[in-house]
Amino acid sequence: MNILDWQTKHQQQQKITVVTCYDYCSAQIVASTKIDAILVGDTLAMVMYGHATTIPATVEMMVLHTAAVARGAKNKFIIGDLPFLSYRQGLTQAMQTVQRFMVAGAQAIKLEGTVGNLELIKHVVASGVPVMGHIGMTPQSVHQLGGFKVQAKHKKAQDQLLQHALQLQDAGCFAIVLECVPSDAAKAVTEKLDVPTIGIGAGPDTSGQVIVWHDMLGLYKDFKPKFVKKYLNGFELMQQALNDYDADVKAKVFPNVEEHCY
Ligand code: KIV
Repeated sequence: MNILDWQTKHQQQQKITVVTCYDYCSAQIVASTKIDAILVGDTLAMVMYGHATTIPATVEMMVLHTAAVARGAKNKFIIGDLPFLSYRQGLTQAMQTVQRFMVAGAQAIKLEGTVGNLELIKHVVASGVPVMGHIGMTPQSVHQLGGFKVQAKHKKAQDQLLQHALQLQDAGCFAIVLECVPSDAAKAVTEKLDVPTIGIGAGPDTSGQVIVWHDMLGLYKDFKPKFVKKYLNGFELMQQALNDYDADVKAKVFPNVEEHCY
């Protein structure tokens, strides 16, 4: 998948799959699958570092994890997620952030929101960097939104969602994440846009889906949004493996003289 394939897939009405990923070994697993693209999301602050929101994610953290993922998944399209306020302190500072992600191995960047970002998006795109937009529930604004809540529930907010999506498209975004909005609203936006929408908690009619690694693999226990589908009981499987190791050592079954010893 490269940047041109996003449009091709969208025109051919093929769904686009994106998964978040934060480390080298997990990236190698994604690299061996048919998943189209990886988002090194700022959700890493929550699922990798145990914070309650994405706000504590820093550029340093994000760039290190982007580089690790890029080493593990050389064949995948990698999107780096600009963390909280890392693109809101003037054009020069924002461009330095973008540069760090691209040097680390991202092929595109994502940023949240519309108002106040459009000139930056145009500048980043004009500088040769693909930009993914993100509207609806924008977790970096959690304190302004009053929590992780479904957005665009009413007509006025749905009209604004569409207006923001069109503005992001006009500014040059190659795709737009729609997070936690009613399915009908996401469908209406998707039908009006030329670029693909990538949904998370936005129903079945977006052009593709993104899901958080730890959510889909059943590793994150703190919080399970309604929109998550768990494909593995990862927590329990790993817990069992650790208890098996503990039992083997205590029963003196591991290490085995023939198999594991020099
Ligand atoms: O940081 C992230 O993982 C995201 C997705 C939830 C879209 O932004």
